[in-house]
Amino acid sequence: MNRIYMDHAATSPVHPEVVEAMIPYFTEKFGNPSSIHSYGRDARKLLDEARIVCAKSINARPNEIIFTSGGTEADNMAVIGAATARQTDGRHVITTAAEHHAVLHACGELENRDFEVTYLNTDEEGRISMDELRASLREDTILVSIMYGNNETGTVQDIKEIGILLKDHPAYFHSDAVQAYGLADLDVNELGVDLLSVSGHKINAPNGTGFLYVKEGVKLSPLAFGGEQERKRRAGTENTAGIAGFKKAIELMVAQKQDRAETYLRFRELLMNELRENEVEFLYNGSFEHVLPHVLNVSFVGVKTEVLLVSLDIAGIAVSSGSACTAGSMEPSHVLTAMYGTNERTKSAVRFSFGYGNTESEIKKAADETAKIVKRLRK
Ligand SMILES: Cc1ncc(COP(=O)(O)O)c(C=O)c1O
Repeated sequence: MNRIYMDHAATSPVHPEVVEAMIPYFTEKFGNPSSIHSYGRDARKLLDEARIVCAKSINARPNEIIFTSGGTEADNMAVIGAATARQTDGRHVITTAAEHHAVLHACGELENRDFEVTYLNTDEEGRISMDELRASLREDTILVSIMYGNNETGTVQDIKEIGILLKDHPAYFHSDAVQAYGLADLDVNELGVDLLSVSGHKINAPNGTGFLYVKEGVKLSPLAFGGEQERKRRAGTENTAGIAGFKKAIELMVAQKQDRAETYLRFRELLMNELRENEVEFLYNGSFEHVLPHVLNVSFVGVKTEVLLVSLDIAGIAVSSGSACTAGSMEPSHVLTAMYGTNERTKSAVRFSFGYGNTESEIKKAADETAKIVKRLRK
């Protein structure tokens, strides 16, 4: 059976050129970047070059990039690191109810440490209200963390507009751009962000790679203590092979971004059209206008998410719900719950997400199989 992978928002296959780029850093250039000898210097050179590539991809400066083990660490470093560094200025943080758990649970930890967190609501499209954000800002607000594009629905927030609103407020502005990086045009100066999180494994680099953009002058307390790597901000020997792959993945992504975005938008339309042609009813979850190209979240009311996911898996099609699966049953998605409450719609949602290797014929096949299975399960 030819399997079809349509869960690129969860993780993406490592590009063959990325694998190729990593190999020398396992075999000949395995030195520790902190070592003085030539092995160390080879590894250091890679870090310097990769940092330039990362910085350029978001119009930042190389010294504003901290390599991390991925999006989760970048989010934690931004949320906990920034709040801790600024706790004498205030103890109030603003975020949204639809963030990834890497931000939400980091905010929960801040609450354990006696910070106060405001969770902004979202509307039915998953968008926050600028008025609610404006009304939530206080003198003691030290950090605002709002994601660029949502991992479950693809809904995009108006980061630039939020950046303008926060321009005259001392709070730091962090955005989790893990899903948007590689598909949206991200310019940290235009967006007005102080901190921005990126993960490698969403753009065909290996798991365990990523970076946090930290605007020059922004204060950050480290989360881990040890060596003086990353200008004393992130202790620990760098993942050089991973970073070599990440660098290559970014280079590929920059060259193909426009093409990829257009292709995935076409896939979204095609999938929905195929479902309609198959006369299977579905509800679209999210925003048609403000959306990342690679994510499509739909509900098939009357069919439980976990039953549909398992049936699709048996048919060779890998998709997901954005929410966690605990002991064989789905927890209702906090993102969809924020948008629609807990109801049949949230309990029957699945996420298709597109990426490297997907073809039109796969999209059609996935849609036809989904329609067949949904019809059967609805009977
Ligand atoms: C929006 C968002 N933020 C953060 C993360 C966490 O990134 P990582 O898996 O690299 O730790 C993810 C991963 O799914 C994500 O989608």
